[in-house]
Amino acid sequence: KKIGVLLGGKSAEREVSLRTGEAIYKALLGLGYQVVKIDVQENIAERIKEESIDMAFLALHGKYGEDGCIQGLLEILNIPYTGSGVLASALAMDKIATKRMLLQAKLPTAEFSLIRRSSYNNETKEEICQTLFKYMPLPLVVKAPTQGSTIGISFVNNEEQLPDALEEAFRYDPIALIEQFISGTEVTATVLGNNQPEALPLIEIVSNTGVYDYKAKYTVGLSDHIMPPRLKEEVQKNVQELAVKVFKTMGCSGLARVDFIVDANSNPYILEINTIPGMTETSLAPDAARAAGISFTDLTDRMIKFALE
Ligand code: DAL
Ligand code: MG
Repeated sequence: KKIGVLLGGKSAEREVSLRTGEAIYKALLGLGYQVVKIDVQENIAERIKEESIDMAFLALHGKYGEDGCIQGLLEILNIPYTGSGVLASALAMDKIATKRMLLQAKLPTAEFSLIRRSSYNNETKEEICQTLFKYMPLPLVVKAPTQGSTIGISFVNNEEQLPDALEEAFRYDPIALIEQFISGTEVTATVLGNNQPEALPLIEIVSNTGVYDYKAKYTVGLSDHIMPPRLKEEVQKNVQELAVKVFKTMGCSGLARVDFIVDANSNPYILEINTIPGMTETSLAPDAARAAGISFTDLTDRMIKFALE
């Protein structure tokens, strides 16, 4: 079988994708597959045809790669690919759509509001912000709903910080998602499988810079992965079960990573679902797999098997 590792692309997470792709490429070579790296550019359909690949291993993050676009193209070309299909990918890439899915399934997620860029201007600004504060007490988190790796996210601890936070989110998306900030333990659950998905051991994330942002995520030594997390066993089990429910509710397949905050009363809140979680040397999913006795290479091999099921 000839496998194309699709990487790069033009999302804000391009650099992360190149690192994920390189790691996957090496693992697949080690497994003895015939492998080719394909950088996702505008001529991607022709490139895929030229290489006549039998399947695609998606090492893309963010827009056009993790959001259903490339999945749709591969469906049309009739080429199997790793991970979730078009709909699950599109839903999970959009934090607002995700929240609506979670609410409908009665799965826990922080309270939120939305502000549209088209209605936010110098005249309306003051009123919009004051109305928001009436309904949502500080602290808040403002997010660009379709980004990953903490891009477009700001924390709002006092009222004056809101306008800048909104501007930052509007750089990426026409709607800003404003969430209630939940203070607690950040944990992530990697889920593996198709019809009978299983959650791997949880990882607690501690950033040495105060926030688990882009820099802390991808610089060696700036964040720690604590395994097992400092949570009671029953709480961990609850989070793992929730992660599997999220995976099924969203219709994911193959591999996904569900991020949570567990508050001081042991209540978990779902932050988001990553349908193509990072697989760089500082990433979480490969560490979770290792904790379950699955090497990086085994993990990629399983993802291929799931894609062909
Ligand atoms: N969005 C990044 C790649 C992650 O979730 O790992
Ligand atoms: Mg993400």
